[in-house]
Amino acid sequence: MANDEPVNTGEVNDEQVTPEAISELAKRRGFFFGSSEAYGGVAGFYTMGPQGAALKGNVESAWRDRFAVKEGNQEIEAPTIMPEPVFEASGHLDGFDDMLVECGECGESHRADHLIEDETGIEEAETLPIPEVEALIEEHDLRCPNCGASLAGRPVEDFNLMFETSIGPGSGQTGYLRPETAQGIFVEFGRLKEYARNQLPFGVAQIGRAYRNEISPRRGLIRTREFTQAELEQFVDPERDEPSLDDVRDVEVRLYPATEQEKEGGDYLETTIGEAVETGVVANEWIAYYLGIAKRWFERVGVDADRFRYRQHLPGERAHYASDCWDAEAELGSVSASGDAADRLATDPSAGDWVEIAGFSYRTDYDLSKHGEHADESFTVFEQYDEPKTVERAVVDPDMSALGPEFGAEATDVADALRDLAALDPDAFGGDEVVVEIDGEEYAVPTDVANFRVEEQTESGEHVTPHVIEPSFGVDRTVYTVIAHAYARDEVDGETRTYLRFVPEIAPTSVAVFPLLSNDESLTALAGEIADDLREAGLSVAYDDSGNIGRRYRRQDEIGTPFCVTVDPEGVEGTGPETATVRERDSTAQIRVPVDELADELAAVRRGRKTFDDLRAAYGAVETADA
Ligand code: GAP
Repeated sequence: MANDEPVNTGEVNDEQVTPEAISELAKRRGFFFGSSEAYGGVAGFYTMGPQGAALKGNVESAWRDRFAVKEGNQEIEAPTIMPEPVFEASGHLDGFDDMLVECGECGESHRADHLIEDETGIEEAETLPIPEVEALIEEHDLRCPNCGASLAGRPVEDFNLMFETSIGPGSGQTGYLRPETAQGIFVEFGRLKEYARNQLPFGVAQIGRAYRNEISPRRGLIRTREFTQAELEQFVDPERDEPSLDDVRDVEVRLYPATEQEKEGGDYLETTIGEAVETGVVANEWIAYYLGIAKRWFERVGVDADRFRYRQHLPGERAHYASDCWDAEAELGSVSASGDAADRLATDPSAGDWVEIAGFSYRTDYDLSKHGEHADESFTVFEQYDEPKTVERAVVDPDMSALGPEFGAEATDVADALRDLAALDPDAFGGDEVVVEIDGEEYAVPTDVANFRVEEQTESGEHVTPHVIEPSFGVDRTVYTVIAHAYARDEVDGETRTYLRFVPEIAPTSVAVFPLLSNDESLTALAGEIADDLREAGLSVAYDDSGNIGRRYRRQDEIGTPFCVTVDPEGVEGTGPETATVRERDSTAQIRVPVDELADELAAVRRGRKTFDDLRAAYGAVETADA
């Protein structure tokens, strides 16, 4: 007989889980909580507690495993503060704005587009121009959520989201906390391409902090001012490089394309990655490839596929660098929707509370071209042709003995300008005279002085500016989603329990070990040894000998520990090998396993090589006392 734990007899409870319920559990059990509360707190900053930090670490490890290791990509770690010229070049100084409206009465700041979305039901209001946003505030008589004063007539302004800082003492140099980890990869492109042996395609991954001075942070980890991104910059030659689409062709996805969003009553497209590419719904094959890889990855870490979709950005919604973008969105409004609620969620895109958790952008050659214009380094890759090519090139060989006396100090610049013009516009040399422009001034040169001719040249390759496909994940939003989708309630022995159905790979604590009785030396000694063995096998272990066994199970259920190992008298009595019970969190079913097999078996489940059902088949279920 196993210890006194009733078998789970109840149905999963389908009631709404509120953000407040998640925040309460998160705070009480050490997942996350508002920072600096001893000093009154400051909106938009969160501390991950022991469970949250472990959960987040596991999510990051799973991301690294999939997007860096398995894809064969490099990973780097760049500084979080970068000098101003980086963000001039990247476009963030000019274009990284949200719409701000301030209350005339209480002075509280609000995101104008969010107010409109919340109060009028209009979607994606950030795509609207400012005058239209001001008109909508007036038309709907929108009011300050803080004090209730009317916001009609208040100006709406662009507010840059970057945190500015000063590097070094005195007037120093202006710097900014990076608003995305990506720029730390782009500015180092010159070196990174060398590490990749100048061979496209290659990818560079980074997991790190990003900072945005959000106008109104909200909903726990969903919109904060400091957060973690996991980003991959995939550099490709769009003319030559293709992803391994066959690896993801069969992945099923729920797509919400821009064309459907723009239609009255538009629908989801339930399709596969292969079909989405063939029909052109997802235009870029690299984006499609990563949508497939990411769908599988989100399921691996415990995101509920029924509450997951890919939504394409509307044209006005795209970031300044993107020519196409698909967001991974998670539904956070309901607990394990079933019946009618599940049907509606699956068929009606307006149903549910959807939050972006990752973005998949086609950034073209925007970033590398911009940095190429501003910085001295080369942001191109020299690609060798398979065979050398013979090409015709227009060239000039200016006669300096004629240019010198004619143009004096400007003669060298005129010669350079003639060379550039020959490459760009050979037809300009068709007449008796050719005109070049330098700093707004025109210089006329007789064509025979330029010595223009067309030559055959052999070239071994060319310089190309790589295009970038960027899967960009919000780690904190993923962590929040994983908690929200794992959150469950059921009835065990007539009592409601709350538990988190984390998959073993990401659960912050893998196993809890209990001696059934805390005052029995033989039980506590063996439980201590088992805990050490499990830790040695790389598992995260909690040891608990306080309180009745039911309460100990409940504590572990609430932090999502998949397995509890209990050492009871039956396991240490007799002459056979010592055994302990293993209780699985969701079913509360128990098995009895020889102690010296525990570590290997549970480590195999944690790694995804076995399931609890495999163990149950091998060891058989154990009856509990009172089921
Ligand atoms: N490099 C591209 C980029 O930064 P983004 O859509 O602005 O794209 C990527 O951000 C991801 O970062 C989002 O999908 C989201 O998960 C996360 N994120 C963005 N702003 C955030 C915030 N204020 N708080 C928490 N996560 C945020």
